[in-house]
Amino acid sequence: MKNLFEFAEACLHRPSIDEKLALSHYARHLLLNGALDLAEDRPLLPIASVKFPDKPELLAPRYMPARKLTTTDGVTAFFHAIAHVEFVAIYLAWDIVYRFRGMPKQFYQDWLRVADEEAQHFELIRNHLRTRSIDYGDLPAHSGLWEHAIATADDLLARLAMVPRCMEARGLDVTPAIIEKFKVLGDDDSVAILSRILTDEVGHVESGSYWFKFVCRQKGFEPEAKYRQLITHYFKGGKPKGPFNREMRIIAGFSNAELDWLETHGNENTKYF
Ligand SMILES: [Fe+2]
Ligand SMILES: [Fe+2]
Repeated sequence: MKNLFEFAEACLHRPSIDEKLALSHYARHLLLNGALDLAEDRPLLPIASVKFPDKPELLAPRYMPARKLTTTDGVTAFFHAIAHVEFVAIYLAWDIVYRFRGMPKQFYQDWLRVADEEAQHFELIRNHLRTRSIDYGDLPAHSGLWEHAIATADDLLARLAMVPRCMEARGLDVTPAIIEKFKVLGDDDSVAILSRILTDEVGHVESGSYWFKFVCRQKGFEPEAKYRQLITHYFKGGKPKGPFNREMRIIAGFSNAELDWLETHGNENTKYF
């Protein structure tokens, strides 16, 4: 396999976890060695044909096990939830590559980098889970994350607003406080893994902001107004609730005006995990 869209098709339509991880790393390896073919001559299958593994069982958020970090089972359930976020993030990165054709080469290179990093994040967390004697799939997982991909399958600006610039950006808000809790618990391995992921996630949101502004310019939209419009339309409840990590979000390409807007009239808590 040498073609980016063939890799994307395989990663989205073959449910095997290990194959998905290997293909994500191999495609990035080919890219970094100048051997990846970016020709867009493969057919585009509808988003309904994307396949997930049989396990974990996907359930509504209210059925998730308790994730209190003060109990052993709670920490395990927390990392299982994070493994699932990272697993779906692999699909989200490949789907943005796969579904939105005709963009500059750099667009595909950026989202392939994200797919590979999400695969690395997933492996870090899965290995961490295995040291706790459970595997990804042993607990149920949150069914909500992929719904944003389905809702925005035909609209790249909506996808960029809702996935990197809403759901992934939420990770920048909540992860620093979780890292602090693991520091207090003296859990250095968890601190190291979550810190590594947080650093990469700033880059993912930054790529989201870059391409959001790029497509807005292309289509003649004012980016801040378009962002407000898309979030209001696609986010159930109108707008994510803070507190927001202004410092990291600014690094990741949010404007002060966007953050001011998010901070006023927030009325719905974003379910990130
Ligand atoms: Fe990630
Ligand atoms: Fe990410």
